[in-house]
Amino acid sequence: MMPARYPSLAGRRVFITGGATGIGAALVAAFAGQGAQVGHVDLAAGPAAALADDLAGQGLAAPWFRAVDVTDVAALQAAIADFAAAAGGLDVLINNVANDTRHDPLATGPGQWRALMAVNLDAGFFAAQAAIPLLRAGGGAIINFSSINALLGPAGMPAYVAAKSGIVGLTRALARQYGPDGIRVNAILPGWVVTDRQLDLWLTPEAEAEWMTQVALKQRILPADVAGLALFLAADDSRMITGQSLVIDGGRT
Ligand SMILES: NC(=O)c1ccc[n+]([C@@H]2O[C@H](COP(=O)([O-])OP(=O)(O)OC[C@H]3O[C@@H](n4cnc5c(N)ncnc54)[C@H](O)[C@@H]3O)[C@@H](O)[C@H]2O)c1
Repeated sequence: MMPARYPSLAGRRVFITGGATGIGAALVAAFAGQGAQVGHVDLAAGPAAALADDLAGQGLAAPWFRAVDVTDVAALQAAIADFAAAAGGLDVLINNVANDTRHDPLATGPGQWRALMAVNLDAGFFAAQAAIPLLRAGGGAIINFSSINALLGPAGMPAYVAAKSGIVGLTRALARQYGPDGIRVNAILPGWVVTDRQLDLWLTPEAEAEWMTQVALKQRILPADVAGLALFLAADDSRMITGQSLVIDGGRT
C-alpha cells in the first residue's frame, strides 16, 4: 500500500518522542518520507542509528536524534529547543513515548507509580510546555498517543491506563487553550499494534487469536497504519480537527 502524499508536510519540522523503535520508528520514517525535517529522542541509541541507516538507504535525510530519558524534564525540553534551533522552527510535536509495564496494584509503591506516570503522562505535558512557544503560530500541531486501554480499562496495568486516560484530558485542555493561536491538539488511541516489543512480550499466538475474535477487521494493525493517521493529523488536510481522540483499532471498541 502506497502512503498518501501530503504536500503541506514537506519541510515541516516534526519532533517525536520515543522514535527509535515500534510505532515511533514508523512515525520517523513516515514523516521523513513526506520530506519533513524529523527530530526524535529515545533511550535506545542503537536502534536509532539503525533507523537512520535504513532511511539513508532509501535516500531520505537522516533524522536529528539525541539519546534522552524523557523522564528527565530538563533534558527533554532542551532537546526540543535544540532541535527547533537546528531546524529553524517547529511545526509538529508527537508525544509517542510510553512504557506499558504490567504491575500489581496492591504491590505498587509510590516510586513505581511516579516513574510510570513520569514516562506515560508527565513527558507529554512537559514536551508540550516546551514546544508550544516554539510552534508556528497559526499552523502548529500536537499529536498525543493514548490507547484504547484508556477506554477499556484492562486489569494489570493501572498506571498505564490512568496515564493514557490523562492524555485524553490533556489533549482536550491544550486544544481549548491554544486553539486561538492556531495550534491543534489531537490524540490517537491505537488498538493492539504489532511491534517487535509486543511480539516479544505480550502478543502470543493465543492472545492474538483472542484479539482477532474481538475486532471487526481480522488483520494485524501495523505501525505504518498508525503513522498514516498521524500524517493526516499533522497535515493541513486536518486543519479543522482539534481536541479529538481518534481510535485506530480495527473495530475493537
Ligand atoms: N503497540 C501497541 O499495541 C499500542 C497500543 C496502544 C497504544 N500504543 C501507544 O503508542 C505509542 C507507541 O507505542 P509502541 O508500542 O511503539 O511503544 P514501545 O514501548 O514499543 O516504544 C516506545 C519507545 O519509547 C522508548 N522509551 C521508553 N521509555 C523511554 C524513556 N524514559 N525515555 C526515552 N525513550 C523511552 C523506547 O525505547 C521505544 O523506542 C505509545 O504511546 C503507546 O502507549 C501502542
